[in-house]
Amino acid sequence: MAEALSIADPRSSARCTACHSPLASVAAAERGPRVEASEGVSCVSCHDLPTQWIRSHTRSDWTHSDRVAAGMRDLRDLYGRANACVACHQNLEPALVAVGRHPALMFELDGQTRDEPRHWEERPGYQGAQAWFVGQGVALREMSWSLLNHGADPARSLPELRALGWVLSRSGLGPLGPPPDAADASPAGLSATMQRADQLARRAAQAWEPGFGAAAMARLASTQGDFTDPATPVLDRACRAERLVMALDRLLPSESDAGRRQAASACLDRLFRLVQSRGDFSPTQFARELEGFRTAMGP
Ligand code: HEC
Ligand code: HEC
Ligand code: HEC
Repeated sequence: MAEALSIADPRSSARCTACHSPLASVAAAERGPRVEASEGVSCVSCHDLPTQWIRSHTRSDWTHSDRVAAGMRDLRDLYGRANACVACHQNLEPALVAVGRHPALMFELDGQTRDEPRHWEERPGYQGAQAWFVGQGVALREMSWSLLNHGADPARSLPELRALGWVLSRSGLGPLGPPPDAADASPAGLSATMQRADQLARRAAQAWEPGFGAAAMARLASTQGDFTDPATPVLDRACRAERLVMALDRLLPSESDAGRRQAASACLDRLFRLVQSRGDFSPTQFARELEGFRTAMGP
C-alpha cells in the first residue's frame, strides 16, 4: 500500500498511523511514562490517556462511575462509544482506497462491539438494535462531515450517504425525531444531514424503547419496492442493500420466535451473498429474496 501511495515509511506516516498507531503523534510528555508510542491501537485509543484510571481500573470495589471520574472515557453510553470508534472506523482518505487498495471502511457499532475482544461486562439492558441505530446515526454524521470538509470522493460517498439516510428513515422510528434527508448533496443539505443524524443518534442513545428493534425490522423487511423502482440508480440500490442486510442481521435477534428467526436467518445468508459485489448486484433477485425474508418473519 505504501509503495502504491509513495509513502516512504508507513510506520511513521500520519496517513497510516492516525488510525493504526495513534500514539505515534502524541508527545512523550503527554503520553506518560507507561505508554509506548509503538503500542498501536491500545487501551488508551478507546479509553483516553491514563491520568489516574490506569492504576485503579482493576479494583473490584470500584464502580463504572469511579472509573469515569478517574479519567476513563465513558463508553457505556452508546453515543459516546460510537464517537470513540467511528474516529477510526468510517472515514478514509479516498486515495487510500482508490490507489492503496485499503479495504473500504463501514462503521456498524453493534457488530463491531460484539467482534471486539470482550473484556467488560455489558451494562444490563444493552440492546443490539439500539447500538446498531446509534452507530448508523453517527456513521451518517461522519459521512456528511467528510463530504463537506474532508474531500471525500462524491462518486463513491454520495450513494453510500443516501443509502444510509434511506436505512435510517425506512426504520420508521419517528418518535426519535425526523430522519435525515440525505438526498440533498448541496453544502446546506449535507450540513442539515449532519446535524439531524447527530441528533437522532443522541436521542436513540437516551430514549430507546424495547419495541423499536422489532418495529424497525418489520419496516425494513418490507422495502422490496425500493429495490425494483427503476427511477433509483442501480448503484444506489446496491448501497441500500449493503446497509439493509447489515441492519437485518443486527435486528434479527429482536424477533422473539425461534422458528421464525431460524427461517429468516437462512434467507439472510442468501441476502448477504447477493451483496458481495456492487458490480454484480441484481436488484430483482435481491427484492425476491427480501420478500422471502419478510414472509419468513410471518404476518
Ligand atoms: C481512518 C483510519 C485508517 C487509516 C488512516 C488507515 N487505516 Fe488501515 N485499517 C483501518 C481499519 C479500521 C482497518 C480494519 C478494517 C476491517 O477489518 O474491517 C484497517 C485495516 C488495514 C489493513 C488490513 C487489511 C486486511 O485486509 O486485513 C492493512 C494492511 C492496513 N489497514 C494498512 C494501512 C496503511 C498502510 C495505511 C496508510 C497508508 C492505513 N491502513 C491507513 C483504519 C485505517
Ligand atoms: C477498541 C476499543 C477498546 C480497547 C482498545 C480497549 N477497550 Fe476497554 N472497553 C471498551 C468498551 C467498548 C468497553 C465497555 C464500556 C463499558 O461498559 O464501560 C470497555 C470496558 C472496559 C473496562 C470497564 C469499564 C467500566 O467501568 O465499565 C475496563 C476496566 C477496560 N475496558 C480496560 C481496558 C484496558 C486495560 C485496555 C487495554 C489493555 C482496554 N480496555 C482496551 C473498549 C476498548
Ligand atoms: C485509534 C483508532 C481506533 C479506534 C479508536 C478503534 N479502532 Fe477498532 N480498529 C482499528 C484498526 C486500525 C483496526 C485494524 C487492526 C488491524 O487489523 O491491524 C481495528 C480493528 C477492529 C476490529 C476487527 C476488525 C473488524 O472491523 O471487525 C474490531 C471488531 C474493532 N476494531 C472494533 C472497535 C470498536 C468497537 C471500537 C470502539 C469501542 C474501536 N474499534 C475503536 C482502529 C481503531
